[in-house]
Amino acid sequence: SKSTIAVIGSINMDMVTETTNFPKQGETVLGDSFKTFPGGKGANQAVAAARLGASVSMFGCVGDDAFGNVLLDALKHDHVNIDNVEPVTHINSGVATIIVSDHDNRIIVHQGANAHVTPDYIDRHLASILANDIVIVQLEIPVQTVEYILDRCHGKVPVIINPAPAQSLPLQTLEKATYLTPNETEYKQLFELNDTLTDKLIITLGSQGAAYYTSGEKIKVLGFQVNPLDTTGAGDTFNGAFAVKVAEGATLKEAIRFANAAAALSIQQLGAQTGMPSRESVESFIRMNEENVT
Ligand code: RIB
Ligand code: NA
Repeated sequence: SKSTIAVIGSINMDMVTETTNFPKQGETVLGDSFKTFPGGKGANQAVAAARLGASVSMFGCVGDDAFGNVLLDALKHDHVNIDNVEPVTHINSGVATIIVSDHDNRIIVHQGANAHVTPDYIDRHLASILANDIVIVQLEIPVQTVEYILDRCHGKVPVIINPAPAQSLPLQTLEKATYLTPNETEYKQLFELNDTLTDKLIITLGSQGAAYYTSGEKIKVLGFQVNPLDTTGAGDTFNGAFAVKVAEGATLKEAIRFANAAAALSIQQLGAQTGMPSRESVESFIRMNEENVT
């Protein structure tokens, strides 16, 4: 049967402008294209996991603006259960202003309704959250809520914390997580000096893949090389895919390799969720690459 995943996190509308030149301070430049895409680290991870075959429930909030309904429809369209998503009145949905060029992307997030994912919200939905095989959270909702989630879930359901964007969490919260999945920057900011957490760490390394530790030894799982078009959401695809495989009982190495492949496929299209692959495409992509190796 399908594994079940609860994603607790942000739901944003991404406003994406492509440009060949970033504006310098005080400068205005003309962009090449503009488009809106459903995004938010939470929603992205939910969609990634759903496309890869898990049964996914989203926990979060949207605003009462026009974006709110569009964002909910997008989740529904990807077969993510939205029964527990709460609409909040008098507030905007989360938004991300994103500038993409061929060598870089820069993002400003405004939390909006995501700030209403509070400990009270968690209490209202706790039974539905605990009914899943695995829970995954990121840091675009209030950190006190993340602390509360770990307190409530500990000993009942495994939790993955994707510490993005980087914010510090109390050690006692981090110790309750099953896995921590920083990228290299987040790793340096949050974990480099703390060796009590090493065995929980999966460090994503962009095109290089990801690393994990077994009994103190660092093991790299190499990434797949593709031509990137837009790396926005690559980390989210990795996390969603990793959660699916872990929930299915795969080994860490298998889960990471699968997640590396899913992330590589996802960056070949503009928009965080656009290129997120199906289960079949990830599996055939991995097979194809194995044939190339031998
Ligand atoms: O991780 C990518 C996401 O970060 C974007 O979709 C944007 O909404 C920001 O939250
Ligand atoms: Na993409």
